Amino acid sequence: MSALFTPFTLKDITLKNRIVVPPMCQYTATDGVPNAWHLVHYPSLARGGAGLVIVEATAVSSEGRITPACLGIWNDEQAQVHSQIAAFIQAAGAVPGLQIGHAGRKASANLPWEGDNHLAADDPRSWDTFSPSALPFGANLPKVPQEMSLEDIKRVKADFVAAAKRALQAGYKWLELHFAHGYLGQSFFSVHANKRDDLYGGDAEGRGRFLLETLAAVREVWPENFPLAARFGVIEFDGRDEETLAEAIALSKQFREDGLDFLSVSLGFSTPAANIPWGPGFMGPIAGRVRQETGLPVASAWGFGRPDLAENAVKNNQLDLVMVGRSHLENPHWPYLAARKLGVEKPSWVLPPSYAHWLERYEM
Ligand code: NDP
Ligand code: FNR
Repeated sequence: MSALFTPFTLKDITLKNRIVVPPMCQYTATDGVPNAWHLVHYPSLARGGAGLVIVEATAVSSEGRITPACLGIWNDEQAQVHSQIAAFIQAAGAVPGLQIGHAGRKASANLPWEGDNHLAADDPRSWDTFSPSALPFGANLPKVPQEMSLEDIKRVKADFVAAAKRALQAGYKWLELHFAHGYLGQSFFSVHANKRDDLYGGDAEGRGRFLLETLAAVREVWPENFPLAARFGVIEFDGRDEETLAEAIALSKQFREDGLDFLSVSLGFSTPAANIPWGPGFMGPIAGRVRQETGLPVASAWGFGRPDLAENAVKNNQLDLVMVGRSHLENPHWPYLAARKLGVEKPSWVLPPSYAHWLERYEM
């Protein structure tokens, strides 16, 4: 029996297999409102057979969008379309999940295929950005953010809470806090972005405070029986990796004590001066260590698009769930392809009976 095709239960939620479509921005929204593309794209991926489909980084406020075309969930108009996406993902056989976040100093950017840089200050589509300290990311993102006041911190936490409530009302059953990839949560944790000398900066405890407080506030409104997850950059590949990993693992243990159910182990992307050892499944061993030391169930991504790699990551206890991103864009039925490659006999373990019946019946 394939490990990848074994069901996974967390709280009241059971995924039919260990395959996850990770959040992937589509940069096609207007004013944060999902549109016809999102209604086609997400249910199609769900129909492909993954156990969990997590909708892209969705901003908790207008200022928290990465680009002007990013999704939001800060008003009822947006939430209303999200409820259709969630219902359609579920109807297509997957559990509907949502990633909520704030882009921090990486906000107010151009689309990736239109430059991937900060919008010019005189561009009418640009807006002021916020971060723990008034330090830009650098490289293609040189805009200097405003250092957040204590009032700003309170406001953004409240935005996360409001977004979580709307996500629940919309019908999402798995919520992921975006604490990775150089956006706001990661920036509080990162020594590259956080030079504060108040309660929210300094040592690892101070740099973890915003993340812990946001988690605690969201946990109060997100039901106990549904998984609350975080995507967290535990490593930067910037030369101080052992220290960052140790701090990230200590903070993740605290996340767990404070009610986090699941961790998506990722990279920090907090500095352009990183030397990332890209390669198939390279985050597997790191995620396995985080899993072992925190006791949290984990997922990871980055190059698990080969079915044997995905299978082995679960079999070897590195990952509980495997995130397969770009390979799903290439082939929305990637899980079915993986099932065949791994010798999983019955497509009905992956596909709905209206497809599987015909695929199991005769040789094609
Ligand atoms: P970039 O996409 O600019 O990538 C930073 C550096 O990493 C570049 O040198 C880039 O190479 C390299 N790189 C990125 N992904 C890969 C890969 N899969 N394989 C090999 N090299 C890679 O940085 P961003 O900060 O915009 O994005 C960082 C990562 O997060 C990306 O991998 C991207 O896929 C992902 N992402 C996350 C989003 C989110 O969390 N909301 C939104 C969009 C993307 P090169 O210069 O050759 O491109
Ligand atoms: C991403 N990624 C990403 N990550 C995240 O946490 N939130 C997001 O919204 C996005 N958006 C996004 C858009 C696009 C187009 C890509 C390609 C990637 C990162 C993604 O979730 C995943 O970690 C990477 O794609 C690596 O996995 P694969 O593609 O190697 O399987």
